[in-house]
Amino acid sequence: MKTSFFKQFQLLSIAMVVTVGVAPNAGTAAEIPEKIIANYFSSAKSSDASIDSFSADRGRKLFLSNPATGKPDTPSCTSCHSNSPMNQGQTRAGKDIAPMALSKTPNRYVDIKKVEKWFRRNCKSVLGRTCTPLEKGDFLTFMISQ
Ligand code: HEC
Repeated sequence: MKTSFFKQFQLLSIAMVVTVGVAPNAGTAAEIPEKIIANYFSSAKSSDASIDSFSADRGRKLFLSNPATGKPDTPSCTSCHSNSPMNQGQTRAGKDIAPMALSKTPNRYVDIKKVEKWFRRNCKSVLGRTCTPLEKGDFLTFMISQ
């Protein structure tokens, strides 16, 4: 009796350690893009309280738009990312860029530093300015829906 209770307790402890140890990693792929988006949402909301949600449709429009207000050789996001999030893109130097759609490249949008670095760089190249938290949130909302 005593032994079997102890064994059960031991198994339960192992199960708990395994669950607790594994759960955060198991959740990463699905959770982190949403967390990054939630982060942009609080920033967007704090600069304009009337913003009530991000829009995948606005994100798609930003992706497909041709602002041409930045560098002459990069008039749009599609200059490098191709005109479909499902397709591979190419840098100006001819290096491949994995598709932007989360369904095609599941390890995207999981590192806030990487996301911020590329938004900063690419928005400057294409728009000649940084993107707003609303634009970033819309863009990511579109990409994770693809
Ligand atoms: C000059 C080429 C170029 C243009 C133009 C460009 N990008 Fe990118 N982008 C890249 C490269 C290169 C990477 C990094 C490689 C990768 O993530 O596959 C990247 C990565 C990103 C990432 C980070 C993805 C991640 O996995 O975290 C975001 C977000 C992004 N771009 C948004 C945009 C937006 C928005 C525009 C238009 C305003 C744009 N890009 C235009 C080349 C470009």
